[in-house]
Amino acid sequence: MAGDDFKLERNLAMDAVRVTEAAAIASWRLVGHGDEKAADQAAVDAMRTALNSLDIDGLIVIGEGERDEAPMLYIGEKVGTGKGPRIDIALDPLEGTTLTAKAMSNALAVMAFAPGGGMLHAPDTYMDKIAVGPGFAKGVVDLDASPADNVRALAKAKGVEPREITACVLDRPRHTEIIASLRSVGARVHLITDGDVAGVINTTDPSTQIDIYIGSGGAPEGVLACAALKCVGGQFQGRLVFRNDDEKARARRIGFQDADFGRKYDLDDLVKGDAIFSATGVTKGALLDGVTIAGGFVQTHTLVMNSATRTVREIRMKRPV
Ligand code: FBP
Repeated sequence: MAGDDFKLERNLAMDAVRVTEAAAIASWRLVGHGDEKAADQAAVDAMRTALNSLDIDGLIVIGEGERDEAPMLYIGEKVGTGKGPRIDIALDPLEGTTLTAKAMSNALAVMAFAPGGGMLHAPDTYMDKIAVGPGFAKGVVDLDASPADNVRALAKAKGVEPREITACVLDRPRHTEIIASLRSVGARVHLITDGDVAGVINTTDPSTQIDIYIGSGGAPEGVLACAALKCVGGQFQGRLVFRNDDEKARARRIGFQDADFGRKYDLDDLVKGDAIFSATGVTKGALLDGVTIAGGFVQTHTLVMNSATRTVREIRMKRPV
């Protein structure tokens, strides 16, 4: 499907909403039960069923893992009835398995659609990431600059002091130096325990007070976050991080060359053309409310965006349980 044809497929955005709603509702039933795997499985099952009901010729490019380790929604799995447009799909049926198991905030069901060939088939490795919201000159921050320098540059671009900048970082020991560098210039550090798709998207929403996202997280989550930035604007840079030769071998198997290993990818490398992004809250967070079930009704809160039309919608769904 060519990019222009994709623009016509506005109904795909509502299809995407139904898919992430289904996954969110299914996993919500496991919120707080301490079972990450069961919560993830519920989301996967529901997302797969919903996807297979759509008239699309869908290909999972970012999924639950490689075929040998993920029986469902594995990378390369075909989904949909096969009758409609050819679409690449990036998904994370439950972004924040631990958040869900522990009934903590910010768990999401997330998915992105792009025309066939439109998204980087990122390996299941880590990625060093930096992201800022829209409205800044290209290159205002850079993955290769120190976190302190990036804060200074962003503060200058915003016309504020570095101490007025808030950086979102995953709370991990591997980020100790990043956090120290950010604090050395007085920046506020907003630590999150999980969920860096939301962490990146939060940079685009002034109400979250997050100005910049820095740190390493999943490479697949990087592509998903870029699908969202593609719709609302913002900048992103990422570089794959390999912990061992096995991870490199896995990347080679899905087409990466050794020359790609040190490459700095930007937004347009990760999501080349148009994209539709949908995220439904599982538990309440800065971005979205969580699922609620009360009085015989289930309610959801979804953010859906279409880069082709630059449309951002928040959708609240209510139906009998
Ligand atoms: P899961 O939902 O798969 O548990 O991922 C949550 C998450 O926090 C992602 O948002 C993030 O990219 C990744 O895990 C970070 O990985 P790690 O927990 O190994 O630091």
